[in-house]
Amino acid sequence: MLICPFLLQEAHARILPSMTKIGIVGATGNVGSSLVRRLAEDGHDVIALSRKGGTDQARVRHVVADLAHPTQLRDAVRGTDAVFLMVAGAASELDPRAIVGAIEDASVSRVVLLSSIGARSRPTAVSHEPLRQLEAAVRRSGLAWTILEPGGFASNARAWIQSVRTEATAAAPFADVAVPIVDPDDIAAVAATALRDDRHAGSLYALTGPVAISPREQCAELGLSLGKKLRFVELTRAQAAAAWRGFMPPTVVETTLDALGTPNELESTVSPDVERVLGRKPRPFSAWAARNASMFGG
Ligand SMILES: NC(=O)c1ccc[n+]([C@@H]2O[C@H](COP(=O)([O-])OP(=O)(O)OC[C@H]3O[C@@H](n4cnc5c(N)ncnc54)[C@H](OP(=O)(O)O)[C@@H]3O)[C@@H](O)[C@H]2O)c1
Repeated sequence: MLICPFLLQEAHARILPSMTKIGIVGATGNVGSSLVRRLAEDGHDVIALSRKGGTDQARVRHVVADLAHPTQLRDAVRGTDAVFLMVAGAASELDPRAIVGAIEDASVSRVVLLSSIGARSRPTAVSHEPLRQLEAAVRRSGLAWTILEPGGFASNARAWIQSVRTEATAAAPFADVAVPIVDPDDIAAVAATALRDDRHAGSLYALTGPVAISPREQCAELGLSLGKKLRFVELTRAQAAAAWRGFMPPTVVETTLDALGTPNELESTVSPDVERVLGRKPRPFSAWAARNASMFGG
């Protein structure tokens, strides 16, 4: 954690009461869907933004808005007290300053930005330039900001759904290189806290799981949650790159392979920040696997 003024500001906390309105960008994604659910359960009115939209539920109104058109974002979040902001993919076509400007123009007071540990751990990687620019834009804005920099997501194991279902097999490169992957639900829990509580303004949190875990170990944990032994197949870097190019921008593929194959200190260190913010330890990969076993045929 780089900056954490919230512990010092106990006496001056301003916590958004339930019923206040919160805007969630990327509301149908891994982090966003968990965050939407959590905030609605806690009594907030949620404006859920994505390009394709979703089905409205109690306290949740889905709005179609594309970050490539910041005025759509501005109009969607007008009247909200706080906004969760994230971008997907390479995001190289997006204009970070216009996106943050749109949130300011909507008279929102707080923003929580989902970035990536890669924005700091790979400072020259082209793939993370949009995230670095977004971080700079929220810091320069007049908004009360919190930046979340997670490591790899536990939900990346969804790439194994089909092969686990059909062949009881999971394939990945760097079989025995361990990094502390984080449960997207923990990211959502930290985001929900920072959106509601202004003691987190001005803080940057590195979000990881409780322990470093390798792909081979993740495969074994997943097998335990399914009650069957899974076969692990180690891919070469070239094989993984070829497979991932089908769903990831090329620059992101290369940086991800670098981070998974030769993680540097930031990428391999367990961060205390989830526990500092939530007052409990981050969840291990086994918890994500148990919650999501049905996707894998369990
Ligand atoms: N996966 C990892 O290991 C990892 C690690 C560190 C950081 N991150 C960061 O986490 C973020 C991804 O989070 P996630 O896994 O929760 O995302 P996700 O599951 O891929 O979901 C993306 C969400 O954003 C929406 N979206 C995409 N493009 C949009 C646009 N132009 N305008 C408005 N909405 C848009 C999508 O809905 P529509 O398609 O309907 O628009 C969806 O709701 C990325 O910024 C990534 O850099 C990921």
